[in-house]
Amino acid sequence: MGLKARRRLLKVSSAAQPRGTLAQTAMAFFRTVSFNDTMPAIAGAGVLLRAPQNSDHAAWAELREASRGFLTPWEPTWPADDLTRGAFRRRLKRYADDQRSDLAYAFLIFRSDDNALMGGLTLANIRRGVAQAGSLGYWIGAPFARKGYMTAAVRTLIPFCFRTLHLHRLEAACIPANTASIGLLENTGFTREGYARSYLCINGVWQDHLLYARLNDDSD
Ligand SMILES: CC(C)(COP(=O)(O)OP(=O)(O)OC[C@H]1O[C@@H](n2cnc3c(N)ncnc32)[C@H](O)[C@@H]1OP(=O)(O)O)[C@@H](O)C(=O)NCCC(=O)NCCS
Repeated sequence: MGLKARRRLLKVSSAAQPRGTLAQTAMAFFRTVSFNDTMPAIAGAGVLLRAPQNSDHAAWAELREASRGFLTPWEPTWPADDLTRGAFRRRLKRYADDQRSDLAYAFLIFRSDDNALMGGLTLANIRRGVAQAGSLGYWIGAPFARKGYMTAAVRTLIPFCFRTLHLHRLEAACIPANTASIGLLENTGFTREGYARSYLCINGVWQDHLLYARLNDDSD
């Protein structure tokens, strides 16, 4: 990166953030946006993405419970208290901390027509510096599956990742048997890059995963 471009980045990030430690300043060097606690909602084709809030708990817990059998084979094991209000509050605190540190951005997905909560989408494990990469995770409630909503949600999030957050690379991984996830990724411009053995502990078992990625200049 040239000196001029570095100065421009530094100017934007230092205007957006309070003074901090040397390490924070170094991290800010590669971070060009700051949302503090309020993340604006992002509108897409028939969907709205916005950060989860306390008042979402009832609808979120109801949808997750109704979708338990549909989701659990593909997700990390749900803790026994996962759907409780207390666990949801802790989840939101974690999301807020991660967002403030530019480590992850969590969204719920709402149907534009009637504001029904349909699922979630998380950009996590953000690595700045020479990587400028993050990982995508997603789930849709069973009543809303296979209607194109997650395709719309991922397509909505992609410009946020590349243009707003200035990431270079978006990654996603799924179990080879997850045909829905494979179809979704291949429909939204991700390329299969590899295979990682025993990559993530899903539903209580260390499972191999297919590795996918989309670069900022990849097309649909
Ligand atoms: C993966 C998931 C998020 C897809 O959400 P969705 O809203 O149903 O996806 P879409 O309707 O946008 O479908 C996109 C593409 O995925 C594929 N797909 C979706 N559901 C599928 C299914 N049941 N069987 C085969 N392919 C499927 C198709 O290729 C589809 O495109 P098409 O309908 O034009 O053929 C959803 O199935 C889900 O939440 N699954 C359980 C949790 C999960 O797997 N999380 C991801 C872990 S890696």
